[in-house]
Amino acid sequence: MYVVAFMMLLVGIDCFNIDTNNVVNILGPEGTHFGYSALMFSNEDSQKWVLVGAIRANFTNDENIKTPGNIFKCKLNFTQSIQDCEPMNIRTNGK
Ligand SMILES: *[C@@H]1O[C@H](CO)[C@@H](O)[C@H](O)[C@H]1NC(C)=O
Ligand SMILES: *[C@@H]1O[C@H](CO)[C@@H](O)[C@H](O)[C@H]1NC(C)=O
Repeated sequence: MYVVAFMMLLVGIDCFNIDTNNVVNILGPEGTHFGYSALMFSNEDSQKWVLVGAIRANFTNDENIKTPGNIFKCKLNFTQSIQDCEPMNIRTNGK
């Protein structure tokens, strides 16, 4: 018992809390791998946003690009159980 306690002091314990009671759902289009990546941030007026990657989403009409992937921005509103997201449709080649 003393050995275990001593080891814990040496290693240190990192803690974090995950709230499993107050959950918001962020839904995206089926089959696009929506949620592959996610980043939460807040802007100056403390509005919280989540950027969500969907690596197989399709937003172009370009036949040469089947699944370009897309990024969705989701404005968090904790009074709603499901969040609103809109596609950002970012293109880097100017088309
Ligand atoms: C998806 O991409 C194809 C080209 O591969 C295009 O014809 C189609 O219109 C696109 N669908 C949507 C919803 O953007
Ligand atoms: C959050 O959602 C509620 C219920 O839909 C709505 O009344 C409220 O205006 C929303 N707040 C913001 C900041 O969008």
